[in-house]
Parts: sequence; structure tokens; C-alpha cells
Amino acid sequence: MRGRTLYSARTKLRCPPERKPPIQRDVHGNTLGLKQSQLQKLRHTYRRRVGEGEIISPELARHLTEVAAETNRQIGVLLDRKGDVEAVIVGNATKLELPDIGRARAGQVRLRGLRLVHTHLHGEPLTRDDLTDLALLRLDLVAAIAVQPDGLPGSVEWAHLVAENPQNELWHVNRLRQVHDADVGVDKLFSDLEDEFSRAAALRKTDGTERAILVGMSTKGRRVAEESMAELKELARSAGVNILDAIVQGRRDVDPKYLIGRGKLGDLVLRSMQLMASMIIFDADLSPSQARHIGEETSLKIIDRTQLILDIFAQRAQSADGKLQVELAQLKYLLPRLAARDDSLSRLTGGIGGRGPGETKLEIDKRRVRDRISYLEKKIERLSSDRAVRRRSRNRNELPIISIVGYTNAGKSTLLNALTKSEVLVEDKLFATLDPTSRRLRFPRDREVIITDTVGFIRDLPKDLKNAFRATLEELSDADLLLHVVDAADPAWEDHIRAVEGILGELELLQTPRLLVFNKADRAGPEAQALAAREKGVAVSALSKVGLDELLRRADRVLWAEGKADEPAQTEPDQPGPMSEASPGEAPGDEPNPPSLAV
Ligand code: GTP
Repeated sequence: MRGRTLYSARTKLRCPPERKPPIQRDVHGNTLGLKQSQLQKLRHTYRRRVGEGEIISPELARHLTEVAAETNRQIGVLLDRKGDVEAVIVGNATKLELPDIGRARAGQVRLRGLRLVHTHLHGEPLTRDDLTDLALLRLDLVAAIAVQPDGLPGSVEWAHLVAENPQNELWHVNRLRQVHDADVGVDKLFSDLEDEFSRAAALRKTDGTERAILVGMSTKGRRVAEESMAELKELARSAGVNILDAIVQGRRDVDPKYLIGRGKLGDLVLRSMQLMASMIIFDADLSPSQARHIGEETSLKIIDRTQLILDIFAQRAQSADGKLQVELAQLKYLLPRLAARDDSLSRLTGGIGGRGPGETKLEIDKRRVRDRISYLEKKIERLSSDRAVRRRSRNRNELPIISIVGYTNAGKSTLLNALTKSEVLVEDKLFATLDPTSRRLRFPRDREVIITDTVGFIRDLPKDLKNAFRATLEELSDADLLLHVVDAADPAWEDHIRAVEGILGELELLQTPRLLVFNKADRAGPEAQALAAREKGVAVSALSKVGLDELLRRADRVLWAEGKADEPAQTEPDQPGPMSEASPGEAPGDEPNPPSLAV
């Protein structure tokens, strides 16, 4: 079976989630071309009941297979826990579309309270779609009865969900030789299963921390998806999320509706049920409609990478300016998503007299969001010109500026602290720094510079987020020297350098002299020195304050060789600007007065 309708947006919007919408006591599905007598037989199916422990009664099974053989179509029933027939469905020879069964009982620990039993005309085993329905709709069970050539029921294959288990199985599939064996005590099975789900839920009750499953998907192969997943884990950890599981999928192409495909989504729902997840975090950026579809299918909170980063930013922004920037980025992210919801409503309520209260409210919401966005943009613009004035006055003082840039978590704040002995927030979390932090740093011979820490860079930073941190990045255009801090102990250091340089390029800052600082040398070992030599940078350990003298010596040389100093430099006057000129292997003591760290 494939292509079943699950639940429409209409059901979701109009029915409160706890109440089960009545399924019409009619024959559903592919009824076109059926004889009156056949339809009549199918209608009579509603009069039948099955025993509480039975998957299906032999009589009902026989009734279904007879009609299936006669019509050459799959016939199915949805049975409730009392054994009553809730719906009779006709498919074609190979598939069956379920009617809208709403979201009844679809809690985290409960099953749907409905089981699907249907015929397979050629005795085929349960299909992937059968199992996906089982998971996505949280059906009590799904069963397929083989139709024998004489129209009698043959073997029965049935599957039910399972609670968390060491093998990470999502369901169990069982086979009965004949329908007379179908009294397997399913009533007890369902209640045991729900007890197990509840017990797991109770064990996992936490302090309200979000419990998430992370999902990575790449069309460029599994390896790419896995690398990206490592970063998503860091991001999630920084956001304070409890990571329950991480699933990676390589696909040839993106599923336009669900990103990862409906079958994988079914697995995901089940896994989240087993682990009592409260949200799913996607590594990719979801389109508004993908986010909506996935949310509707899973009933879980759905977050994508941008939203996660926004969340971290929101938790950490400290200055008034930073907070405004984050709010602006969040609202810009929200706006098209409001629109997507509105579209689905318009379809339902559109037309004359069809402008329901929901739509009006959304219109108001959208207008409010737009108003707030333009207010924030103006306010940020004002703050930005204030900052420009402040910067001009600082420039008049002619203090050279060193800005520390680098991939998030590279150790920028630690380096600033080590250099200036200040106590800027240092945390082993991504994006601990969100607001520009400036300090004065005294070089030898009473030379002073201003040194600023910046927000960590990250690959694929969404455009609105880049704008959001204009405050930080604006400072970079004034820098006389960029210290590009690299975590030498991170295997992905090369990608990180590329990501940072990409962003610097976008900001037209590649002309500014740059010095690569290979940090965490204590962790990376001799490799850091080798890297520094190869890339014409400096190896340091900001944490153990090793290599800082050499770093300052090199910085000093660039700054004063660039003519920033008010006194002739004691360094070689004919040195070109970029730091790469400095010999990586130069011996300490090349200069008469090596800089010290007096602040
Ligand atoms: P963002 O604010 O996310 O951009 O991070 P950041 O680049 O400012 O990094 P931060 O200074 O917050 O350091 C991140 C983590 O790396 C912290 O746990 C630091 O203690 C650690 N760290 C920084 N420098 C070193 C180092 O030289 N050696 C080691 N072993 N750890 C370091």
C-alpha cells in the first residue's frame, strides 16, 4: 500500500486534538464501479464485532477476503479496542488509502486505539508503507490477511510497535499460519505496551529540558552528513538541549514535502515515542512548508539549524543592541512561517463569507510582526550610526585595533582574556560570545592597541543572522589586524578556516592584514607548530598562556610596520602588511624589546 491520506490540515485545525472526529459509517475509498450488492455487503461489515483479544475474528476475515476476491480490490477495516468496526475501506489491487482518522489518543505514550486489518490479494508481506502507517499513525497494530485462490483467508502477517530496546527495533512482525490462530491476546499486548511507554516516560521525566532527536540529511553522501551532524550536536549542546539520538541519512534527492521521506519520518516518530523526545532538530534548513508538514505528521516540536542558532543567540545576547538584533532575526524567520500557516487556512476558509476568525487573527499577527520588524530595523540603524560616531572618535585617538575572529569555540574569548587578563565570558559552548567586547592592550614601549573579541563564525550562517551580528562585524572594518583564531585540535580546522575566510570575503575584509593563530596547541601537540609553520601563522595555547609573546611580537610588527604607530617602529620598516610575511620560524629575541602583557 502506498500514498494513504493521513490527516488533513482541516482535521487538525478544526478538531481539538483530544477528540476523535467521527468517521462516517460509510464505505471509504475506491468504491467506484462496485455493484450495489457488493457495497451492501461492505456496509454490513459495520454490524460485525471481534473478540477483545483477537486481531480479527475468522468470520470477519472470511467476509473481507470473499469481497476482496470478488472485487479484486484490497479491503480493510479499522477496529477499535472494543472490537467494533470503525471504518470499512476499499483500495485497489495493491494499495489502500486510509480515511481521515484524526489525532485521537495520539499522545506520546498512547497508541491510536485503532488497528488496521486488510487483505493482500497475493499474500504479499506487510509493505514498508504498512509499517510507516503503523508508526506515523501510532496504530495499535497493522495486519495483512492473504486471500487464497478460493477466496478464503490464508496466513496473517501482523506487526505492532515496540518500546525502546537494545536492538533499536521499531516494531515486531509476526506471522500466523491461519486466521483461526488470531486470538493472540492483543488487548493485553496493547495495555502492556502502553504501560511500557508510560514507564519509559516516567523514567525520563526531566526538569523541562528539551529532549531532542537530531536528524542530518545530505545529498552529498553520508560522510558530509556525519561531519555536519558533529557540529549540530555542539550547537544543540550549547543550546542546553538533551540529545537522545542522532540519525543521519544520505539521500539522492531531497523529499520536497518531508525532507527525509515519509518512511524515514515514520521511523523517526516511533523513535521519538520510544525515547520520549519532545522535539526533532533538523540539521538542514527546513522550508516553511516542510516544517509545517513534518509538524503535522509528528505532533512534535520541529526546529531547524537556523532556529537552533537563533535560540542560542537569544539565550546569550547581552547588550541592548545584541538583543534587538536577535529579535529582528527571529521575527524575520517567523514571518514566512506565519504566511505558510495562513495559506493552509485560506484554502479552508477562503471564498465569499469564508474569512474565518483564524485568518483574520493571522493577518493581524503578520501585520504586527511586520511593524515590529520595521521598528527594530530603524532602532538598530540609529544605534549603528551612534556606534559609527563613537568609532570615529576612537579613530581620532589613533589607537590601532586588533580584532579577534574565528570559528565558534576556537578559543577567541580565552585568547582575549589571556592577552588582557580580563574576564570575558568563556564557556565551552558554541557562541558563548555574542556582543563585541573591546579591551585596551598595552604593547611594549607604552604602545596601546584596542583589541576586540567577536561572535564566533560558523559555516552557512544564514543571511539574516549575519545581518543580526552587523554590530560585531561592523567593528571588523576598522580593524588594522585580524587575529584569526583556529582550533588546531579540531580535525575540521581547514573547513573552519575556509568558512571564516568566506565570511571575511563577503564582508570585503580580505585586504585587512591577518594572522592565523593556531590555538589549543596543548591539545593538538606538535601538530600545531607544524601547522603554524606551514600556514605562516603562530601556535599558541590561550588556556596555558603559551606562545603569546610570539603572537604579540608578530602583531606588533604588522601594526607598526603598517604605520599606525606614532613613533618609528623598532621592527623592520620595510616589512609588507600581511602577517604572513613574518618568518614562522623566527627565533624569540629577534627584537630588542619583546612585548609583554602589561594591561
Ligand atoms: P564563541 O564565543 O563560541 O565564538 O567561542 P570562542 O571562540 O570565544 O571560544 P572560548 O574562548 O569560549 O573557548 C571555547 C572552549 O575552548 C573553552 O572551553 C575554552 O576553555 C577552550 N579553550 C580555549 N583555548 C584553549 C586552549 O588553548 N587549549 C585548550 N585545551 N582549550 C582551550
